Amino acid sequence: MELDLFKGLVALFVALVGLIFLSKLRSKKLKLPPGPLAVPIFGNWLQVGDDLNHRNLSDLAKKYGEIFLLKMGQRNLVVVSSPDLAKEVLHTQGVEFGSRTRNVVFDIFTGKGQDMVFTVYGEHWRKMRRIMTVPFFTNKVVQQYRFAWESEIASAVEDIKKRPESSTTGIVIRRRLQLMMYNIMYKMMFDRRFESEEDPLFLRLRALNGERSRLAQSFDYNYGDFIPILRPFLRGYLKICKEVKERRLTLFKDYFVEERKKMASTRGPVSLNEKVAIDHILEAQDKGEINEDNVLYIVENINVAAIETTLWSMEWGIAEIVNHPEIQQKIRDELDTMLGHGVPITEPDTIRLPYLQAVIKETLRLHMAIPLLVPHMNLNEAKLGSYDIPAESKILVNAWWLANNPEWWDKPDQFIPERFLDDKIEASGNDFRYLPFGVGRRSCPGIILALPILALAIGRLIQSFELLPPPGQSKVDVSEKGGQFSLHILNHSVVVAKPIA
Ligand code: HEM
Repeated sequence: MELDLFKGLVALFVALVGLIFLSKLRSKKLKLPPGPLAVPIFGNWLQVGDDLNHRNLSDLAKKYGEIFLLKMGQRNLVVVSSPDLAKEVLHTQGVEFGSRTRNVVFDIFTGKGQDMVFTVYGEHWRKMRRIMTVPFFTNKVVQQYRFAWESEIASAVEDIKKRPESSTTGIVIRRRLQLMMYNIMYKMMFDRRFESEEDPLFLRLRALNGERSRLAQSFDYNYGDFIPILRPFLRGYLKICKEVKERRLTLFKDYFVEERKKMASTRGPVSLNEKVAIDHILEAQDKGEINEDNVLYIVENINVAAIETTLWSMEWGIAEIVNHPEIQQKIRDELDTMLGHGVPITEPDTIRLPYLQAVIKETLRLHMAIPLLVPHMNLNEAKLGSYDIPAESKILVNAWWLANNPEWWDKPDQFIPERFLDDKIEASGNDFRYLPFGVGRRSCPGIILALPILALAIGRLIQSFELLPPPGQSKVDVSEKGGQFSLHILNHSVVVAKPIA
């Protein structure tokens, strides 16, 4: 038995070396981007390691240039670090580079691309994006839900006020804001909200979403993803992924999708005004446009793409505001001048508060939640700059470096919202140096929700509280923790929130 296994492994190894040799022969004619010398089987993996975060990739760009290639075992990874090449990938050749790579773990969580975020560019993606646009990504939706957002934010502010430690030792403000973000998105999806941070259903949901993010963003499975011969050793990890995926989709189905269907069958069809996102999506399923799995993967996508990204950005913004009291006061002064002291900010106000907007842009510049965008991919061999890009390469646009490169940003490592006051750089991608939401076909459709939600939450907190570091500390820690392509604050800030009269 053991001998058979050994023979099998040797055969696999020989086949692999043969394949590499053949692909080398074939790739001879390609003019590949520069990069460190790759060794057989491992490629550059042993040199560059697992953690290919935005900072490490920026350092490699300084050495190899605005485009370089890393071979991570069997996978080609192309990293783009200039505004011109970013434009090429995201705009000019947006179709060629508009697909996504997945890896062994993302294959599990997305059912091999049955979702929208991780599917290749094509008919399925177009249909899913169209079906999701009406219930989530239009100004009409913003107008339909702005009162619900304002009320959720007000409720978070009230809860924070009620806690005595808020104004003394401080609280981990993220916890209450996380409940707020779940309530905002679950109201839009299912017309549901969770009463408190202890709500058992909320706790289950949060735990499963957290587990999904941790498993997907971890570097622990790289070896089996890069080097297929090692994949058998990943069996245990992938088994856990499958279990989490099943439990999560079952939770979405049993507690939310089916509940909504039951409600519609007992109360009769919902009227146009009462329709929430899932009603639109189930209609698409009834028409045969998508299947039940696609419905659940849409719910899955919103859970990961919408809630934590916006929450991380909120956390970073609050941390910087705590660390820069003069900026905090400037935001408060602007709110007082434009709206009047004590008049709570509402959604239509957000566009006439340039300083608040600048603070949000600066937060998204310095602390991009998805600093390398969601990985892109070219299905077919393609050209980029003067180089050939092998088919199915993973293309990372280092959006963080574009927005933090001292060549075109003054003091990029400092939090200076004023830089956004004079020029007309928008978060929507009118300038290829600043792409916190990407740009083009695969850009973030959620920007239309994320920007007003961020402005409302941060504006309202600053109107309601003086936000300070905890006693004995002059600043909160803004160290980072990155994953496969996500970036968040390492230590959730403890913040003192002193109510303002
Ligand atoms: C501050 C908050 C957010 C940030 C920084 C952010 C950032 C991004 C980025 C960088 C991408 C990838 C762009 C690319 O690959 O070119 C993306 C994709 C996406 N985002 Fe967001 N996002 C945020 C909030 C949201 C929200 C609130 C939603 C939904 C309600 C959302 C839904 C999506 C979806 C569905 C995609 C995939 C688009 C596609 O592949 O076609 N995001 N986001």
